[in-house]
Amino acid sequence: MNLNCVLEKAYKERYAVGAFDIWNIESLRTVIEAAEESRSPVIVQAYTQRIKHTDIEYYSSIGKVAAENAKIPVVLHLDHGDNLRIVMQSVRQGFTSVGIENPGLAYQQYVDFTRKVVEVAHAVGVSVEAELGEVPRVREGVTEASREILTNPKEASHFVAETGIDALAISIGTVSGLHKGMKEPKIDFDRVRKIRNFVNVPLVLHGGTALTSTDTEKLIELGVCKINIGTALHLPFINGIKRLLENSPENIDLYKIHEVDGVVQEEAKGVIRTLMKLYGCSGKASTKIFGTI
Ligand code: 13P
Repeated sequence: MNLNCVLEKAYKERYAVGAFDIWNIESLRTVIEAAEESRSPVIVQAYTQRIKHTDIEYYSSIGKVAAENAKIPVVLHLDHGDNLRIVMQSVRQGFTSVGIENPGLAYQQYVDFTRKVVEVAHAVGVSVEAELGEVPRVREGVTEASREILTNPKEASHFVAETGIDALAISIGTVSGLHKGMKEPKIDFDRVRKIRNFVNVPLVLHGGTALTSTDTEKLIELGVCKINIGTALHLPFINGIKRLLENSPENIDLYKIHEVDGVVQEEAKGVIRTLMKLYGCSGKASTKIFGTI
């Protein structure tokens, strides 16, 4: 099940599919269960920087088990691939989709890199998302996107035509890692409209956590079909575990930790179900039997 299997319908019917960054079995199961409860297709992502600290086989193994057992369509996606090696490893390990970003190359070199990725991925039915422009990260000390890193609509048109990618990740004002209580992202809707006019593949948005409901609905109307979520899933886990260990020290016990996980997973599932409703993907999983990825 690659990106095209879930985004083509989303694109036609004007809704978005949530793409959630997972980091362990608990976060993965939380995403899958929330999607099943919402009867929604879902994209499960492994973030390249995190894979570099673990082994990609661990991610692909748990991802494959989750996808095979799920009652809804699951795409197993590499998030932020920045070199051919990690892309090839993901493809070999059974990821059904890869996402890449520019590792700092000049435009033409990035086109060549993307083409190469498309060639190897498409040869085995794996879809490719590529980012043009750059979505900044709070982690790197940035809370606002400067104009120079936003996606240029004309360039986007050439880029999609020259590379043959399946989905385009755009920079239009979101910042990865922003969340409630911090700044609200300032979205350049005019730019999205222009990109939409030039480009005919599904649009992807990184930095989904801080988006307001109103902006999200407008962006979906303008053709955004995949919304990446990292922080909004991370926060209930971190805050929930902290609360449950601080308030009830008896939980600091090997035989209690699964109970702590259970409480936190339920809270995180609530967050995901709310997002799926907002994105319009709730109830969009077809009733086919899924069992392979
Ligand atoms: P957030 O952490 O802001 O949700 O962004 C995640 C992301 O874009 C992963 O690709």
